[in-house]
Amino acid sequence: MKKIVKKTLIAMAGLGVLMGAVSANAGPEEDRLKLVNHFKNKFPDLKQEDYILSALAFDPDAKSQYDSIMEFPPYTDELDKGKKLWSTPLKSGKTYADCLPNGGKNVAGNYPIFDNTLGKVVTLEDALNLCRVANGDEPYKIGDDNTMGRLTAYMRTLSDGMKMNIKVEGEGAMKAYEDGKSTFYGRVGQLNFSCGNCHVDNAGVRIRSELLSPVVGQATHWPAFRGGDKLTTLQERYKGCQNNVRHAPDKPGSTRYNNLEYFHSYMSNGLEMKSSVFRK
Ligand code: HEC
Repeated sequence: MKKIVKKTLIAMAGLGVLMGAVSANAGPEEDRLKLVNHFKNKFPDLKQEDYILSALAFDPDAKSQYDSIMEFPPYTDELDKGKKLWSTPLKSGKTYADCLPNGGKNVAGNYPIFDNTLGKVVTLEDALNLCRVANGDEPYKIGDDNTMGRLTAYMRTLSDGMKMNIKVEGEGAMKAYEDGKSTFYGRVGQLNFSCGNCHVDNAGVRIRSELLSPVVGQATHWPAFRGGDKLTTLQERYKGCQNNVRHAPDKPGSTRYNNLEYFHSYMSNGLEMKSSVFRK
């Protein structure tokens, strides 16, 4: 290597270290603002608060159909079952509300968190399972719609209206965030597509019969009930999208998906949550 090139590289590396030291949040917050601005330029008429509608924001007909379905949602039975799970005491006699900050209200938007003691990302589902185990119950299977799915479908509605507020602080958190980010932007599958190819580069574009939603806002409304009352969690949706590009998907609850959810949720920071909505 020529001396001068080598010198420049070393200088750049040094600069990188310096820049990294300025603020632990510079990375995630810059990433988010870049995306927000990208979409602002692309869709100047789209209001910030409408991003929580995802693809419905581009389709007035689908939006009015959504509004009428949301007046009498076909899945209220599922939410009632979730409420029952939420209020049934655990073996110790305590409830989930005793475990979670603020009795479990207006907290869902803080999750996933990075737990420094455990050294990993803890999703809301994980936090509920930690509560179960601490109170003598078996953990629920992540991805089981009838237990954890219903429980979170109800529990998250207690945070409707809360603004998403994911925090990435410290080295471990940053590593997990970066891992999630590289899953989001990494091309995979026979079709060689990344999440970003569809939900950043091609947001607003129709693919087969569907309009592609922007990543900003996507994490605000889960679980969703698809086609009536089929409960779908956010990580199940990741699975569906990976299947679509013919990539063998991960399992809900895997480290890769948890880290992806961490990054993905951060991109919706500042937007209002509304859980358990209808989706086609
Ligand atoms: C080939 C394009 C494609 C790729 C790649 C893709 N998706 Fe999707 N995704 C879709 C389509 C189509 C839908 C349904 C329409 C919509 O809401 O965008 C969708 C929906 C979603 C939704 C639900 C949006 C909502 O609010 O209802 C989420 C979340 C999502 N994708 C996340 C991801 C993630 C994360 C990845 C990467 C693991 C990914 N997608 C990869 C095409 C894609």
